[in-house]
Amino acid sequence: MMKKLNITVLVDQGEISASDPDFLYPPEEPITEYHVIETLRELGHNVSVLGADKNVENMIRGFKEYEPELIFNLTEHLAGDRKFDKNIASFIEMMDIPFTGTGSTGLLLTRDKRLCKQLLSLHRIRVPKFVFFPFKKTIKLSKTIKFPLVVKPVLEDSSEGISNASIVESEDALRDRVKFVHEGWKQGAIAEEYIDGREFYVGVIGNKKLRVLPIRECRFNFEGSEGPRLATYRVKWNPEYRKKWKISFDFADIETQIMKKIERTCKKVFKILQLKDYARIDIRLTSEGDIYILEANANPDIGYGDEFAESAEKGGISYLDLIQQIIENAFKRYA
Ligand SMILES: Nc1ncnc2c1ncn2[C@@H]1O[C@H](COP(=O)(O)OP(=O)(O)O)[C@@H](O)[C@H]1O
Ligand SMILES: [Mg+2]
Repeated sequence: MMKKLNITVLVDQGEISASDPDFLYPPEEPITEYHVIETLRELGHNVSVLGADKNVENMIRGFKEYEPELIFNLTEHLAGDRKFDKNIASFIEMMDIPFTGTGSTGLLLTRDKRLCKQLLSLHRIRVPKFVFFPFKKTIKLSKTIKFPLVVKPVLEDSSEGISNASIVESEDALRDRVKFVHEGWKQGAIAEEYIDGREFYVGVIGNKKLRVLPIRECRFNFEGSEGPRLATYRVKWNPEYRKKWKISFDFADIETQIMKKIERTCKKVFKILQLKDYARIDIRLTSEGDIYILEANANPDIGYGDEFAESAEKGGISYLDLIQQIIENAFKRYA
């Protein structure tokens, strides 16, 4: 067990309630920030909380006042803009304070669904073929890509902008959906070949030595169903909708050989994308046994009871241990 640390938890400013800025009381709706902060306190660390927003001076003032030995970085966006997650990390890097989780390079590589796939292909990791449609440019269609395609905003996550209409089967539908993404999200659209297969979420923790946690699966009801074939926004966030279409999230039952292959691949992906301490990799497995990386999440939700914590628990790592391991992993990188 390492010594007790002076830790500042950096959160998205919008998550801080005016009536309880230090997260001393359980909020009405459980939120990750509260779970992590409460657990750090339970572990005996000295915890302060700071909000990240565009007012950089406040952050500097906070860091000077709290003098953290480690920052627990829970930020996911800057004033609602997700592509600025890497800038917050860059800022902490410039302040020269150790912090948990992926740094600015890894956040840059994973935020951009196109860049991430280009880099992984260079390393011969299988990813869906894709075409990119830059924002504010005329939509030019390539002949080499095969339908069906999945059209997504290139810089979002949490299935933002992903619904059943994201799967397109024709050039007209593709144009419409790309326009929809450009107009709605003010960013480029990536159209990937649809990978038919089982969908897994692979939690990885560590750095030099990586551990793959028990794998979760999104179980779609493919058999003759008209229901979703994607983990759309509604699939992820609406339990009623999941019930309607018989979709569930559960631990995956995977044959040992394939499991080993998934573990090897995900560990490689973790390193190539410069992920740190913990991350979750979303993959699909085809009936031929091919593993496709859909994306890597440098900031998976680590709230109590969330997918990642459930996987850890199943792997014998209690929530308390998970949070402690994350800070130990982070701290070791700076030793
Ligand atoms: N190329 C693809 N083939 C099959 N399904 C896909 C593909 N791309 C995305 N999906 C589906 O859409 C979901 C969300 O896509 P993902 O790239 O993980 O975006 P997000 O960052 O929003 O989670 C995936 O979990 C998967 O169900
Ligand atoms: Mg995903």
